[in-house]
Amino acid sequence: MLVCVRYLVVGAGGHAEEVAWSLVEHERARGESPEAVFFDDVRPPGPLSSGLGAIAGPLDAVADYADRRATLLVLGVGLPRLKQRLVARLAPLGLSWATVVHPRAIVGPNVEIGPGSYVAAGAIVTVNVRLGAFVTVNLHAQVAHDGIVDAYATLHPNARVAGNVRVGEAAELGTGAIVLPGLTVGAGTVLGAGAVALEALEDGVTYVGAPARPVHRRARRPA
Ligand SMILES: CC(C)(COP(=O)(O)OP(=O)(O)OC[C@H]1O[C@@H](n2cnc3c(N)ncnc32)[C@H](O)[C@@H]1OP(=O)(O)O)[C@@H](O)C(=O)NCCC(=O)NCCS
Repeated sequence: MLVCVRYLVVGAGGHAEEVAWSLVEHERARGESPEAVFFDDVRPPGPLSSGLGAIAGPLDAVADYADRRATLLVLGVGLPRLKQRLVARLAPLGLSWATVVHPRAIVGPNVEIGPGSYVAAGAIVTVNVRLGAFVTVNLHAQVAHDGIVDAYATLHPNARVAGNVRVGEAAELGTGAIVLPGLTVGAGTVLGAGAVALEALEDGVTYVGAPARPVHRRARRPA
């Protein structure tokens, strides 16, 4: 049986609830009261404690609630590789993805935000910025003028990129990380929480510290 619901939230963890809350606030500001159901492969079906809706079942159940003309998917996860996996998995359904911007995010003129992206409460995206598809700009994160953030990249809470920075596809900037003006963050690169990038960051490398340097993992003793 097909039960058509407007918003189908992919994931039901805390981040998914924050995204859904942003969506509800946005719709309420326009006089709408949106209906959302959540899907999660790990958490059991049932109502969410936030009161934002209920988990209907695992991701395979999305098709039972989807109507291509009326339904939008909402990406409720924030880690780049998980975003990529879930978007690829749901692609055969041919559904569109909602772009979610909390009404108390600040978004300036000439800013493009791709489908499936999320800009959280308190985030600031200033002027002439391009956010690709499935980008996450989490709570109080900032993207300054002329920035480009490629698809699937994530800025965790309070991460800040200065003007003219390019953040590569599926890159991840940890909580409170800073990227100085004009630098490039490579595709798939991770900048650790609190790190400060003073130079361009290569593709696929994890950096930590201030100034940011490639992480050196100590050899672990066998257990
Ligand atoms: C950088 C990061 C990805 C590294 O994780 P990891 O690959 O599992 O690496 P490890 O935890 O094994 O740490 C490796 C080394 O880097 C150090 N390190 C890890 N993260 C660090 C950070 N943010 N700043 C400084 N040093 C850090 C560790 O102390 C360790 O050092 P050691 O080998 O001398 O003991 C992770 O620590 C991080 O900062 N992630 C950001 C997460 C985040 O902001 N999430 C937001 C959720 S809302």
